[in-house]
Amino acid sequence: MHKRKIQKLEMVDICKEFPGVVVNNHVNLAVESGRILALLGENGAGKTTLMNILYGMYRPDSGDIRINGECVFIRNPLDAIKLGIGMVHQHYMLIARHTVAENVALGLQDVPFFSPVKPIKKRLHEFSEMYGLKVNPEARIWQLSAGEQQRVEIVKALFRGADVLILDEPTSVLAPQEAKELFAILKKMTNAGHSVIFITHKLEEVMAISTDVMALRQGHVVGNVKTSQTGKAELARMMVGREISFTYNKKELPPGTLILDVNGLVVRNDRDMLAVKDISFTLHKNEIFGIAGVSGNGQKELVEAITGLRKIEAGNVVIEGKDVANLSPKMISRSGVSHVPEERMRFGIAPSLMVYENSVLKDYDRVPFSKSYILNFFQIKNYAKKLMEKFKVSASSVNVSIKNLSGGNIQKLILGREISGKASLIVASHPTYGLDIGATEYIRELLLMKREEGAAILLVSEDLDELCALSDRIAVMYEGEFMGIIPAKEVNREEVGLMMAGVNM
Ligand SMILES: Nc1ncnc2c1ncn2[C@@H]1O[C@H](COP(=O)(O)OP(=O)(O)O)[C@@H](O)[C@H]1O
Ligand SMILES: [Mg+2]
Repeated sequence: MHKRKIQKLEMVDICKEFPGVVVNNHVNLAVESGRILALLGENGAGKTTLMNILYGMYRPDSGDIRINGECVFIRNPLDAIKLGIGMVHQHYMLIARHTVAENVALGLQDVPFFSPVKPIKKRLHEFSEMYGLKVNPEARIWQLSAGEQQRVEIVKALFRGADVLILDEPTSVLAPQEAKELFAILKKMTNAGHSVIFITHKLEEVMAISTDVMALRQGHVVGNVKTSQTGKAELARMMVGREISFTYNKKELPPGTLILDVNGLVVRNDRDMLAVKDISFTLHKNEIFGIAGVSGNGQKELVEAITGLRKIEAGNVVIEGKDVANLSPKMISRSGVSHVPEERMRFGIAPSLMVYENSVLKDYDRVPFSKSYILNFFQIKNYAKKLMEKFKVSASSVNVSIKNLSGGNIQKLILGREISGKASLIVASHPTYGLDIGATEYIRELLLMKREEGAAILLVSEDLDELCALSDRIAVMYEGEFMGIIPAKEVNREEVGLMMAGVNM
């Protein structure tokens, strides 16, 4: 094994406060060469902050960082990189218009200033051989999938000599297959003596990939175990401080009247290719219709077409007897449709507006929030406060701009807003994506409650457990078509796996 300069990395007694919150409270962490440490914790537990301290983005209020037993000073990311610490953030920091090779070259010290790309390509090739990190040096970033962009970020960190690689919720943007590929890459890296710190709140991932686990709750370390000596139930308890059942009480309900009737739907994607190819299905009151599949198979376009965000090329979308095809999102929303969009930052919120404004985004022009064109701020803020309480959105007040909230909290607010109404159809795309297990459990129970109350729910998810737990019927989508529609009770995982890969059943 190639000897790495970082054999052991330690954070000792780290404290960090932001105005009004203690985010890291006397935290100790250690990781050794060849190991994968999963840093587990709910949204807001302090994971990202701790890693930002290690990467030099923040200074700790107190505490030390040690490499091979010696104290080091990390004042900024450049210091961290020089010491052999690399980080891949939750939001990638690549330049969209540049190629992969150009992005990797950016900021490197030891490449020629002019035409840096040639030596980079050679080394990119070496890396892809060594770690299975496939990237095309000529591709432009905007053309790449989330998984490919992530590989570019990892390559970038390795190029800069990272012995320790920090990944902040790396799988939250990946399809299951891409996550598997990532895990294989990480294994190869640790075999070569690198160490990895992997932030996640997904227990399956902790069990699948890590060698050690450390759990944070409200800034405190609440657990430190070897992965081989623990299990999902214990980890869940550690993380949330209470038992999580993982079982949902789905009542037997006969499907009610027809709510949504989609017939022969054809939709194109952003690249003008057919993304939804002649899809038909129905959805009834008291029913959850799940759509499974690897993302990128037309789910997004299907949902956008139904909710008015994307043009329909052919076919009908009939909601409670009314054809809404190609009506505006607002008209469709007024026909009783709620939408929890996949691209929450783009379609779910107005980032520069305040939390209270975002709480009534679709209804601000209606009673009780406004009357004769005059907004009733008292009503709006009151409503927003209730929404925040009910859905446990953590923000210092309703008067802060929503873009300052963490992703998980933005999600909870959108979900709360969309689910609280009286919609007859709820279209939910990846509603628990990025949420911790406490919040996930809550949202799932809420969807089931809405089903009992009579809503028809279209649920798009990549999480088969979620789909099986909530849905009445599941369709598997592949390349714009349904490979089959199966009653959830009869789901056989292997069968669904095959259908997700395009096998007709
Ligand atoms: N720059 C900041 N200013 C103020 N508060 C912050 C800042 N960054 C994070 N926080 C707060 O610190 C807490 C922990 O955040 P974070 O480390 O992002 O948690 P995690 O990554 O575990 O979800 C949250 O309550 C968050 O609102
Ligand atoms: Mg985080």
